[in-house]
Formats: sequence, C-alpha cells, structure tokens
Amino acid sequence: MFTFFDYYHNEVKLAFEKNPFSDYPRHVWVICRFQGQWLLTRHPRRGLEFPGGKVEKGETPEEAAVREVWEETGGITEIVKQVGQYRVKGRAETVVKNIYFADVQSMETKKDYMETLGPVLLRKLPREPDDNYSFIMKDDVLPKTLHYLKKQKLLPRGDIKE
Ligand code: GTP
Repeated sequence: MFTFFDYYHNEVKLAFEKNPFSDYPRHVWVICRFQGQWLLTRHPRRGLEFPGGKVEKGETPEEAAVREVWEETGGITEIVKQVGQYRVKGRAETVVKNIYFADVQSMETKKDYMETLGPVLLRKLPREPDDNYSFIMKDDVLPKTLHYLKKQKLLPRGDIKE
C-alpha cells in the first residue's frame, strides 16, 4: 500500500491488489497501449490523460473501462486487466478508482469522442508531465503503475518514461 499526495495536495492511497478500498468503485482509469504506443485522450480542460471515467448504473467497472476507452479514443478492446485500485480523499468527496491495463486491438475514427477531443498516440511518456498533461498524470499513481506493469511483464522493456 502506498500513500502520497496528488497535484492538488489531496491524499492518495494506492494498492496493486483486488479491491483494497471498495468492491464497488465508481471510477475507472485505463492504461492503454496500441501497436506499441501509449494511447491517451485529450481532455479539453485537463489535457492529455489515459482514458477513464465513471461507472454507470447497471454496469460493471470492467464494462465501464471498455466503454470509456471506446468513447474517448475510438479504441476497441475486449479485455481489460485490473492492476490495482486507488482512493483520493478530495475536499468534497472521496473517489475510488480501479486501474486497468488494456492492449487495444483496433481503432476506429469517430465523429464524436464524448467530452474529449479524441485519441493521442505517444511513443514515450514524459518523465515530468508538463502543462499539456492532466493533473491525474502528475502524481505517483502513474509511475508506480508503470513499474508494476513492467514487473508483471505486461510492458516491453525500455518503454517507460524516457
Ligand atoms: P465530472 O463530474 O466528470 O465533471 O468531474 P468532477 O471532477 O466533478 O468529479 P469526479 O467525481 O471525477 O472527481 C472529483 C474529484 O476527485 C476531482 O475534482 C479530483 O480532485 C479527484 N479525482 C478524481 N479522479 C482523480 C484521479 O484520477 N486522480 C486524482 N489525484 N484525483 C482525482
């Protein structure tokens, strides 16, 4: 279990276990790869981030993860693998988010990417994400998740944060 503070100084707890904080997380976040690149979305206010969002009524978190990847990037993935979960103690509310990894099979160009400006493919992720990146890419969740994925051999060597 890791504890740290996010970009807004909210407390974050993160664990690479099955549901350490909630069996019914209301949010999902999906670390996506497509043909050897990282697949992100461009949020109009927050900037570049991996796709994700809220679990809708009647949906499992896995279904939400698949849907959010499709809605925000046009990426089609059948399988998402849960890698962990984190909890952010915000000022107004506490958010519990499942983290998934998806190797996206194909991509379709769409007219509408819901609340986002659509897909962005990157060969490398920056070591220190700048103003182009969302705050959710700027705390320890991302580097710790990448480290975990690498340990699990889900990522090719040498493909992290350079
Ligand atoms: P929408 O309802 O989608 O417009 O967004 P929102 O920001 O109002 O609500 P959401 O429930 O997504 O998040 C509430 C707060 O939780 C945010 O303002 C953040 O402070 C925090 N939060 C949500 N997701 C994350 C995350 O992935 N990382 C971090 N560090 N904080 C998050």
